[in-house]
Amino acid sequence: MKKLLITLLLTFSILGQAQNQNLISNVPNRHTTSLNGVWNYIVDPYETGYYSFHHDVYDKQEKPSKAAYFSNYHAVNKQELVEYDFDKSPKINIPGDWNSQVPELKYYEGNVWFKKSFDYDLKTQKRLFVYIGAINYKADVYLNGKKLGTHEGGFTPFNYEVTSIVKPKDNYLVIKVDNTRHKEDVPTLNTDWWNYGGITRDVTLIEESASFVEDYTIQLDKKDKNKISGFVKINNFNPAQNAVAIAIPELKINYKGKVGADGIVKFEIPSKNVSYWSPENPKLYEVTIDFNGEKLKDNIGFRTIETQEDKILLNGKQIFLRGISIHEENAKGGRANSEEDALRLLNWAKELGCNYVRLAHYPHNENIIRLADKLGLMVWEEIPVYWTVEFTRKETYNNAQNQLTAAITRDKNRACIIIWSMANETPVSDARNNFIKNLAEHTKSLDNTRLISAALLTQSGDGFGTINDEIGQYLDIIAFNQYLGWYGGNLEDAEKILWKTKYNKPVIVSEFGGDAKAGLHGEKNERWTEEYQEYLYIQNLKMIEKIPHLSGLSPWILVDFRSPRRLLPGIQDEYNRKGLISNDGQKKKAFYIMQDWYKKKIKD
Ligand code: GCU
Repeated sequence: MKKLLITLLLTFSILGQAQNQNLISNVPNRHTTSLNGVWNYIVDPYETGYYSFHHDVYDKQEKPSKAAYFSNYHAVNKQELVEYDFDKSPKINIPGDWNSQVPELKYYEGNVWFKKSFDYDLKTQKRLFVYIGAINYKADVYLNGKKLGTHEGGFTPFNYEVTSIVKPKDNYLVIKVDNTRHKEDVPTLNTDWWNYGGITRDVTLIEESASFVEDYTIQLDKKDKNKISGFVKINNFNPAQNAVAIAIPELKINYKGKVGADGIVKFEIPSKNVSYWSPENPKLYEVTIDFNGEKLKDNIGFRTIETQEDKILLNGKQIFLRGISIHEENAKGGRANSEEDALRLLNWAKELGCNYVRLAHYPHNENIIRLADKLGLMVWEEIPVYWTVEFTRKETYNNAQNQLTAAITRDKNRACIIIWSMANETPVSDARNNFIKNLAEHTKSLDNTRLISAALLTQSGDGFGTINDEIGQYLDIIAFNQYLGWYGGNLEDAEKILWKTKYNKPVIVSEFGGDAKAGLHGEKNERWTEEYQEYLYIQNLKMIEKIPHLSGLSPWILVDFRSPRRLLPGIQDEYNRKGLISNDGQKKKAFYIMQDWYKKKIKD
């Protein structure tokens, strides 16, 4: 009986840890060791490394078989039967998707195992965590043959504690990645982007003390901009160490507080002479949180963002969002993840004249968010509740909510983020309205300082564009996608088309555009030419500038991007060509139309 009880307790503690939602924030400024670099991988379409031949799950066995790939087993003699060997298997760079790194895996959707060996000398009293920036789509994670957990969601971070498992030499971190698409997932089966599979963002070891600062919010107070407020959350709180200090030297702030029994301290700190963050002045303050003899630094901007009737106010002043939509893709045509990738994309946005970017359709990597903070680009961050997710399914809602929680936890101290987007182009239904309403309420419960939106579909036709989607009541900003001249409508009529909305709220045109193959020239009525895209922009902008309550736009899209839906030979070749810039960096004629329009907008 006793043995059973111990086993049960151990199982629950591992499961609890494995489902651990104690996401650690501000990882770039912690004591970390990177596991990025060359990993071995095994392509496993039949999940041979996960199931026995009778489909028993190896990691549910009391003593997992050596045939389980997470055992990372090597034959000990010439008689032994072992049918895999990570160390003799191919190598791949991590972070990075497999599609753009391994030609044979360009279209592969299924399971791939990855293995990284490492040594780690963990001092006593210290704790160690494995933090993963993102894995698309589902990950089963093991260290030294022990299951750490399973994570779903292709664009948000997660971490597991490995203190009791790590050893000084020859640790092996094994991750099974499955990028198979499913109807009930988030996103669902079909999207208009490439299903890049793999460990697509950084893998990092984080070393912490027994009791440490796990997470915090330090932002300008929503109700009183002469206060900085928020909380600090301690992991494994020990009442004997309950003092927390927050220093912001430039603001002469030296706050001292006491952590409560729940491991949390909430604070409101009077703050004067704050230089507010804005695109013109992307001021970041050095903030230091002092706890238990450790100093955790961050660079945080302070600003207010709100709506007043149909206006968006940044630091109390009305703003217009000169934006562009961006997918997370690098120059090689794979998942972007590095600072260099972020610089390439955001420098183009700045060159276009943007003060704002719509990072579609999922949370992008932390590098681009922190760079936007530094460069002064406001950000729309979105979760991939895209098109027809299963709105009636509770587990699908929980998945979406988990992804939203992780994105907000990671990024809620970044001043550049002004909008959390709940969805993109979802079909109207009661279930969908309820799904979005709940996500919006959940967002406000985690962060009441930012605005909530979603990219809606519009009902256009008979010369009118109408924005009457009923979820608009749950949104601070009414954003909608429209494709006059590409998916319908007549560009000659653009100036005559009037839009009307039933909401007295700010409006953003979150998408418009059309494809052009860079270098293909012809008449302005010839689809796929640069001249057609240029004319489409000229005409759409004439219509858009007359939309009531217009407060911003983010044309679709900065750069051509891979999509399995775009197959016209010689023109698309598996690329969506709506980019103002081609995937090999050529600016198209429409780029300059948009740039001129923004130049005039700045002068207004
Ligand atoms: C849709 C969708 C995008 C898509 C674009 C297009 O509105 O939001 O993800 O790529 O239009 O059709 O090109």
